[in-house]
Amino acid sequence: MSGAAKATACANIALAKYWGKADDGLNLPAVPSVSITLDPLVTETTVTFEEGLTEDAFALDGEPARAGELKRVSALLDEVRREAGFETRARVTSDNRFPTAAGLASSASGFAALAGAASAAAGLAPSLEELSARARRASASAARSIYGGFVELPAGREGRDDLAARQLAGPEHWDLRVVVAVTAEGRKPVGSRSAMGESRHSSMFYDAWVEGSRRLCTEIEEALMDRDFPRLAPLVEQSFFAMHGVAMASIPPVLYWQGGSVAALHAVRRLREDDGLSVCATMDAGPHVKAICTAADADAVAKGLEATDGVLRTLVTKPGPGISIETIPAETEAS
Ligand code: DP6
Repeated sequence: MSGAAKATACANIALAKYWGKADDGLNLPAVPSVSITLDPLVTETTVTFEEGLTEDAFALDGEPARAGELKRVSALLDEVRREAGFETRARVTSDNRFPTAAGLASSASGFAALAGAASAAAGLAPSLEELSARARRASASAARSIYGGFVELPAGREGRDDLAARQLAGPEHWDLRVVVAVTAEGRKPVGSRSAMGESRHSSMFYDAWVEGSRRLCTEIEEALMDRDFPRLAPLVEQSFFAMHGVAMASIPPVLYWQGGSVAALHAVRRLREDDGLSVCATMDAGPHVKAICTAADADAVAKGLEATDGVLRTLVTKPGPGISIETIPAETEAS
């Protein structure tokens, strides 16, 4: 069997956070989440099934990937090979157009693009829903990156291995901006997978988080569909503060914040309360602060954050497209 395909997918930022699993084996989230797919935070992944390879090869941003990363990639490839009925190993290259593993969810865009490219290279033609479920089994936030715009991933239910995300609205629904305030260089110290495992097993707030997240996610979804920023802002902040509170109250505690993160959070509050801008903050499993704001306020928000001590630079993103997949013809492959 030989075949090759390329896919691009964008990162996403959750407004209602996913944190914690209902089932580790099936990778089912314990809580529902809602996200915005972000243009231009793109990952481009190429998969080539090559006769003669003795094992899968995976290069991330031009470097051979680490063993743990290769294992997760091979698990997704194994699923595709099982479904397509062959055993040929694959060469995978993945390039991020933004810093890897720095809290910008490159695993979401990476696994979404991988699910698309691997399926197409194997000659399969899954629906977007099936692709989303495949990406989710590799990394739950990746299920959301299959779709553009505004996306929901429901909580998992026992035994439901087909859980997939769904699009709530396309990117044109609301002209929001997400201003990323970068507050540190390099990889984050604790990956989200192990940190959310610690939270589930040892955080004194975990049960309250799971309980409260369902209501919060519904309210976030409603505010989003109504394009109601004043209603959305405090709900988005409650979701990420609660998620980080759960993580901080674990043994060992997980603290992603740096000095620059705290300074940026205060800056966002000042921009909203003192300057009257439509802006709120969120953070993922890393030190960067993402300011969600209206397009009209984006320049002022970026300026305000850039002037904040500890903020190294900003990056302005907006609601973006879903996955795009292209099969590479055999003659191109050989050249
Ligand atoms: C903080 O999707 O990376 O970004 O399913 O174990 O791969 P796995 O976890 P992952 O977790 C992302 C957590 C988050 C919040 C979010 O994106 O909803």
